[in-house]
Amino acid sequence: MDWGQRNRLYQIIKSDGRTVMLAVDHGYFQGPTYRIENPKKTIEPLLPFADAVMLTRGVLRSSITHETNTSIVLRVSGGNSIVGQLANEEIITSIRDAIRLNASAIAISIYVGTEFEHQTLTCLAKLVDEGQDYGIPVIAVTAVGKELEKREARYLALCCRIAAELGASIVKTYYCEDFTKVVEGCPVPLVIAGGPKLETEMDIFNLVYDAIDAGAIGVDMGRNIWQNDHPIAVIKAIRSIVHENATAKEAYELFLKIKNNQ
Ligand code: 5RP
Repeated sequence: MDWGQRNRLYQIIKSDGRTVMLAVDHGYFQGPTYRIENPKKTIEPLLPFADAVMLTRGVLRSSITHETNTSIVLRVSGGNSIVGQLANEEIITSIRDAIRLNASAIAISIYVGTEFEHQTLTCLAKLVDEGQDYGIPVIAVTAVGKELEKREARYLALCCRIAAELGASIVKTYYCEDFTKVVEGCPVPLVIAGGPKLETEMDIFNLVYDAIDAGAIGVDMGRNIWQNDHPIAVIKAIRSIVHENATAKEAYELFLKIKNNQ
């Protein structure tokens, strides 16, 4: 791997080999999602606590200050919507624009098992080729669309392995029962999404702890952070698990402490 690509990955995966990425790309297919209707208002206070932020070029240019030190993971697939065919994504942002925006990585969703499997997988392969030309790592997202029940080990292991085989530098997937099987079958680092808002904060911290314990290198989480009434307390508590090996209980105690001091 060339120096540029290694350096870009280092902007995302810190020296401890772990990462806390903040996902705020939901609007590219579901519009003004609850609590990121005004992206700037939600994202800016959280940026100092994220190693990287995952978003589209539209939100980056309109809503994020160029003075940020947080690394940029640019969502470059889309062209779909929640009211259309959710899996029908293609590459919608050029590698030139990703470079202009100083992206540390570019992200694309793949929809294995759908009628758009071939299209999204060949887009991933094409993106990896372009990324290699310019030293930009690619993050593949194993999307499940509305079919949340697809979040099970056999299916996710298949998706993650295919993404790694096609050249993704990092794979983003969901935590599931038997997650170690997903990790073991994937020769590149894995991060987990959070999925829809969980019932309690303890559920969030258990999810993060279990994923890290099973071998994930971190999270790329959205709704469970910024849909919470205390998003800074949540992200700081998540950081304590990812970067300081805190238990879920210790993270919860930290969450309460920060929440009560706010
Ligand atoms: C959408 C995405 C989102 O970034 C991903 O779902 C992470 O967000 P959340 O933690 O809210 O699930 O990649 O395809």
